Amino acid sequence: MKGLLLAGGHGTRLRPLTYTGNKHMLPIANKPMLMYGFEHLRSAGIKEIGIVLGPLQEGIIDSFGDGSKFNVRITYIEQPDPRGIAHAVLISKKFLSDDSFAVYLGDNLLKESMPKLAKEFQDSGADAMVVVSKVKDPSRFGVVKIQDEKIVKLVEKPKQFLSDLALTGVYFLRPSIFPVIETLKPSWRNELEITEAIQSILEKGGKVTYHTVSGWWKDTGRPEDILEANQLVLNDLKTSIKGNVEDGASVYGSVEIAEGTVIRRGASIRGPVAIGEGSEIGDEASVGPFSSIGSRVKILGAEIENSIVLDGTTISCKERIMDSIIGKNSKIVSNLNNRSAVRRFVLGESSFVSL
Ligand code: DAU
Repeated sequence: MKGLLLAGGHGTRLRPLTYTGNKHMLPIANKPMLMYGFEHLRSAGIKEIGIVLGPLQEGIIDSFGDGSKFNVRITYIEQPDPRGIAHAVLISKKFLSDDSFAVYLGDNLLKESMPKLAKEFQDSGADAMVVVSKVKDPSRFGVVKIQDEKIVKLVEKPKQFLSDLALTGVYFLRPSIFPVIETLKPSWRNELEITEAIQSILEKGGKVTYHTVSGWWKDTGRPEDILEANQLVLNDLKTSIKGNVEDGASVYGSVEIAEGTVIRRGASIRGPVAIGEGSEIGDEASVGPFSSIGSRVKILGAEIENSIVLDGTTISCKERIMDSIIGKNSKIVSNLNNRSAVRRFVLGESSFVSL
């Protein structure tokens, strides 16, 4: 079995974070989002992984390289225009050749056993297997209608309620999908829809099975989804302290503090919190639950909670910052000496905020 990891697409819903970088490289618990899907594919024993790249490729090839450091072989496939998930599969035909394959949307995070899913698909002999999860807002997703434990219909972004079982971004397919994609017409959003291709397999009498996610699933389309994904991943954080926690600093809960980071006397860290390398949490600063702080970050005086702060950023103020995503190399400064009301930000790279 091969793996196809999708990292193209528009990224428009995550602006301004995606003006300067690929959304798939945004960190979730200090690890690029795309790495989660990649590790999942690897965990299923997949040794050949294709990564579909759009025009914003920054950091992807640098991080993944040819795959040898992960003991897999990576092939990069360019998709200059995001013409749909099915289009991404079709242009990868040469790489996928006559193998069965797993498609993983790079903006999806899933807590599920991939080896189990891969085995279930291989054993089923099905033409396609989709992975589904119950959601509150099905109109944002592709959905499947199930009757008598069988899929009877798949619809992309249904306008009328059909089912609350959404398609997650993991699909198991076989080369039999290629001729089906070739007959697809672009949808209302001008994309070749994988949902329509699988519906077409079903209509032609093919076998399509499904697996319901037993853990959790998150599509990280919007900033609030990124924060929620960060929470879900941090929930499983194991404590590891490689940095320096000075006497008089208070650290509790599950925390990951990487090498070269200093937690100053008087600072407080309440886990789950992950802090990257070479950062500093100063006296009177507090980093609260469900926050991921990148490398070379300085937090001086501020209270941070349920937020993601990317590499190289400095926050030097007495503000309370919650539910925020702060891009790389940004600066938030203030001369105010009182703690303010809560501030919320979604700031792109190199932002400067003076309060
Ligand atoms: O997240 C699950 C949903 O993903 C499913 O429920 C839907 O059925 C499926 O169509 C898809 O919907 P989205 O509207 O969320 O897809 P999006 O455009 O966000 O793209 C999903 C991922 O695939 C993202 O990582 C970017 C990548 N992509 C997307 C397109 C359209 C590509 O690499 N190339 C593309 O042409």
